[in-house]
Amino acid sequence: MNPPPRTLSGKRILLIVAGGIAAYKSLDLIRRLRERGSSVRCVLTAAAKEFVTPLSVATLSRDKVYSDLFDLTAENEIGHIRLARDCDLVVVAPATADLIAKMATGLAGDLATTILLATDKPILLAPAMNHVMWAHDATRKNMATLAARKVTSIGPASGELAEGEIGAGRMSEPLDIVAAIERHFNSNAPLAGKRALVTSGPTHEPIDPVRYIANRSSGKQGHAIAAALAALGAETILVSGPTNLTAPAGVKLREIESAQQMLAACVEALPADIAVCAAAVADWRPATLGNSKLKKDGGAAPTLALTENPDILATLSKHAQRPGLVVGFAAETDDLIRHATEKRLRKGCDWIVANDVSLGTNVFGGDANTVHVIDKAGVESWERQSKEDVAHRLALRIAAYFNKAA
Ligand code: CTP
Repeated sequence: MNPPPRTLSGKRILLIVAGGIAAYKSLDLIRRLRERGSSVRCVLTAAAKEFVTPLSVATLSRDKVYSDLFDLTAENEIGHIRLARDCDLVVVAPATADLIAKMATGLAGDLATTILLATDKPILLAPAMNHVMWAHDATRKNMATLAARKVTSIGPASGELAEGEIGAGRMSEPLDIVAAIERHFNSNAPLAGKRALVTSGPTHEPIDPVRYIANRSSGKQGHAIAAALAALGAETILVSGPTNLTAPAGVKLREIESAQQMLAACVEALPADIAVCAAAVADWRPATLGNSKLKKDGGAAPTLALTENPDILATLSKHAQRPGLVVGFAAETDDLIRHATEKRLRKGCDWIVANDVSLGTNVFGGDANTVHVIDKAGVESWERQSKEDVAHRLALRIAAYFNKAA
């Protein structure tokens, strides 16, 4: 597998690991950050050392690990005040209820809390705790106090917690924390602060447990659009049918199979500022799904009764939480501009990107695309170019749309 792009090249992250079961995920976080070009200097609280060893942290971060406030050797090499400031971002992962409370109060009884009080750098928290502790009024107030001080946070996620209970409290996954860090460094980017939803790939419509109806979409165009929007700073959720592609850097991937699942994942991702529907959604699905495999019984071949799938683009276009800009695609084989113009009006989207997918154009599965962007002002035809270039140009057009509106 290719190494991820060096999106954090030259960045210096000070990672504070507090004592919670999620501390084991910090080891993966260190690895992911370093892979992206960032240096990671780590501080462990005394409790964190019960969950991860300084040796594993030092090995992964390739740096000395700091833990004690009065480590005289460390003070000679680098004082705790310099430690607090010699970085571009302080990340606390996991941030326990205890550490959050200490931060909110301004306590400085150990190295981690001293750094958090002494730093003049931005701080990002990845909270992790039991769901009752997270929902507790004390934690709510502490988080509000920290938010007022411009401390940002990611998560926690919902799901099964270490103690077997279910609720909001799990530390966000390392890759989601990495994406939040990338967004932080991208905050001057043209789409910073915007949330984008992109659909991509084909859908698989099950006939029985082993067979499905599908189409030739590779997902290349949709994935490239998600990557381009994320590169311009948008928080990007990619809802994709089955493809052979890996999730682009900094994009949250939601994998689905059928059109109905794609719709549910899209609606769940709302509210969003931008929706780009690039998926080749199956128009129909088998009307009845058998629980067991269809068998040849020597009789006539079965007939598949089909029922229409929900139209995701049209649903998003008229949704109560309609994204500010909705972009559809129109794959046509004849009378491209007329059909695509009608499709824009019929589906209620703002722009439609029309492309000719007749046999011989090699758009499905290929690497290049010739598109025409149609909006209420008219038709803009782009020369044939790679799908990455189409994606980048579309992302820039989207950024220009929001900058004009601002
Ligand atoms: N689309 C969708 N949900 C569907 C069908 C299509 O979201 N159930 C979206 C596609 O992602 C694309 C746009 O609608 O953005 C147009 O897709 P296309 O396949 O060209 O149009 P259809 O609705 O299938 O129309 P037709 O088959 O009549 O060309």
